[in-house]
Amino acid sequence: MTPPAPLEPLMNAVEELRALDRPAKLLGAVARRGFGSGAFKDAISGTWLGNSVHAPLTDAVIGPLLSASLLDVLSPESPRAAQRLIEAGLAIAVPTALAGLNDWADSEATDSGVRRGVAVNQTAHDRGPVDWTAVAPAAAPAGERPLRVLAGDTPVLLVRDGDSIHAIHDRCSHRGCSLASGRVDGHVVSCRCHGSRFDLRDGTVIAGPAGYAQPVFEVRGPADRLEVRLRRPT
Ligand code: FES
Repeated sequence: MTPPAPLEPLMNAVEELRALDRPAKLLGAVARRGFGSGAFKDAISGTWLGNSVHAPLTDAVIGPLLSASLLDVLSPESPRAAQRLIEAGLAIAVPTALAGLNDWADSEATDSGVRRGVAVNQTAHDRGPVDWTAVAPAAAPAGERPLRVLAGDTPVLLVRDGDSIHAIHDRCSHRGCSLASGRVDGHVVSCRCHGSRFDLRDGTVIAGPAGYAQPVFEVRGPADRLEVRLRRPT
């Protein structure tokens, strides 16, 4: 068994502090309201990059500050260069903190059942079955109402589109909410948690804050014996 990380007991103790729940919820709500939705929210969420921007930005803060410290030690006669590096680090710290607060606030809004880590692709470790797999319950969506089924352990969202059926991963790639509880409009599904929108035909992100596409599935079989398998990239 892997021994716990040195700081893990401390982090667990903080996580279990009930006194922090109320202020954390309040701060999360204020942050989500403040960031709203749209271009700024997508920018600090990393929708444009297809990845969270918070982690790489932290490196962009640490780099100049560390370099300034080294310059102070190795080249004390160049205080001006160190000063510039400190200014750069502090300037980048602002968007870094905003991106971190945004990531945390979005995570705080989901419940512990879907919270699997901040700013990681929530479908990365469960893309879905690569071989044809029967869905359960064995039923096809009737009318426009979306249907959440399981293919093995993978939750799949089925949406009827005329004679065909769209099938995409039901766990939102952003923070893991079920897309079945969102809204379907034509071939677009909107996540109820933070409003990300995905194209049901190919899983692409139409609007953030999600930065990762949803896995999509091929569908075959009669309505009472549907099977799905992960669509291979073309
Ligand atoms: S969980 Fe955030 S948009 Fe879906």
